[in-house]
Amino acid sequence: MALAGRMPDDEPSSLRVRRERQRAFWRERYLEEPAFFGEAESGFARWCLPLLRAEKGLDSILELGCGYGRDSRFLASEGFRVVGVDLTTVRPDETSSSRETPSRFRLIESDAAEYLARVPSQKFDAVYSNMFFNMDFSESEHRSLMKAIRSALRPRGLHLYSARSTFDPWYGRGRSVGPDTFEASPGGAIIHFFSMEYVDRLAEGLFTPVERSDQAEGGEDFPIRLLYVVDRRT
Ligand SMILES: C[S@@+](CC[C@H](N)C(=O)[O-])C[C@H]1O[C@@H](n2cnc3c(N)ncnc32)[C@H](O)[C@@H]1O
Repeated sequence: MALAGRMPDDEPSSLRVRRERQRAFWRERYLEEPAFFGEAESGFARWCLPLLRAEKGLDSILELGCGYGRDSRFLASEGFRVVGVDLTTVRPDETSSSRETPSRFRLIESDAAEYLARVPSQKFDAVYSNMFFNMDFSESEHRSLMKAIRSALRPRGLHLYSARSTFDPWYGRGRSVGPDTFEASPGGAIIHFFSMEYVDRLAEGLFTPVERSDQAEGGEDFPIRLLYVVDRRT
């Protein structure tokens, strides 16, 4: 289902169409290739682990846009209680995958904003995501998500996320559909790229910076640039 372009954010039907398009896009990817990003946890999850471990009393983590749960499973296997949320969850019986689900990990199929709206405030010690904010979200949607994440976090809880950067080799390729946002190929993924200035703007008044890092990932086949961000609830 190809979209001609973005309609105003506050148009509920436009939002529904965009979410459905996202859901269908990722569901197709995961059915075709259950370990689309590989079986192993992401580099960002490995990078976060010492920070999470160093945080006194940190036990519960919410992962947004967890896909098939490679990072949620990893964090659960490291002893944290993890809830993973994604627009589309492809069950193991829908694919040939035989992944096990650790008991400390719960996978929920939902739009992230809808899940955050129904979660009790201060429920989680940390909110984590890998390449989730790059999806088809506008700045006002990012701002609403940031507010909802802050409310889901306990006081001084951590918000950790990675996002494709404006220095990424894919930046600017394809059709522009919004500020720093491109559809690489017709009907393909829509990617919103992040600058450090944008990261700071989204955190303003909600979070204080803990760590920021600019990282190259993906190897020779598919080089990408990611910003690693760790913020603390003010
Ligand atoms: C680039 S993939 C990354 C998946 C996973 N974090 C990983 O690293 O394996 C982005 C994920 O975000 C999910 N997603 C996109 N929009 C979403 C939304 N509004 N709510 C929840 N999940 C969403 C997609 O379904 C997809 O699984």
